[in-house]
Amino acid sequence: MSTTENYKPKMLGFLCNWCCYAGADLCGVSRHQYPANMKIIRVMCSGRVDSEHVLRAFEDGIDGVFIGGCWLGECHYVTEGNYDALSMMHLTRKVLEQIGVNPERLQLKWVSASEGIRYAEVVTEFTNKLNELGPLGKGEGIDADALQLKLEAARKLLPYLKLVEREKLRVRFATEEEYDAFFNSDEVNRLIRELIIDKLAISQITTLLGRNPHSTREISEMLHLDPAETARHLNSSSRQGLVGYDESHKRYALAA
Ligand code: FES
Repeated sequence: MSTTENYKPKMLGFLCNWCCYAGADLCGVSRHQYPANMKIIRVMCSGRVDSEHVLRAFEDGIDGVFIGGCWLGECHYVTEGNYDALSMMHLTRKVLEQIGVNPERLQLKWVSASEGIRYAEVVTEFTNKLNELGPLGKGEGIDADALQLKLEAARKLLPYLKLVEREKLRVRFATEEEYDAFFNSDEVNRLIRELIIDKLAISQITTLLGRNPHSTREISEMLHLDPAETARHLNSSSRQGLVGYDESHKRYALAA
């Protein structure tokens, strides 16, 4: 059930030209019924979709991002971009989770050119899921300003996240199940905790302070961060020269 009356989710779909896009075409020609509120961007391979495209779409107010690619083993390029798309999807979902956005707002599905019915089914399923989740932000209980800030902070961290992905999380498995197991393993969760969570919190704090100076309490409330954790991040950011404390106003500000 929708959390907002008359809510129609805004959806963006990145569809691989060789399979899912052709599947969508067949679906239309065959007159299968499915919700038509997804805007489509045709890409040459699902592997061309980047975390930045996803985060920017959410910053622009999209409620759900769909990526449609060729089935594993059937990508049309030797680089087999759909495996990269799978890793990208998992890592981006981890980031979304950390900033309080429901990771199910990002979906990756395989649809071949002959699977018009499957296209209708996966889009209907995703639309129903988004209807359940409600509008982006409202569904999560995050106000619009805080959401924008969190998405921007996550996007600023992408160059670092890509480095972590390349150095620590670049894997190649044969099946989706193996990717699921790997990205939900204790080992990966530990890596995310050690390498990403603090950096993401600091990126949110510096993005917030880039707008206005704030006290520790204000920062913690606005970003829904634990006060002790906020103080810890402010101390380490101070030591690194990223932020400074204005004694007279009792506020932290971005270092000049
Ligand atoms: S060509 Fe379709 S996913 Fe690579």
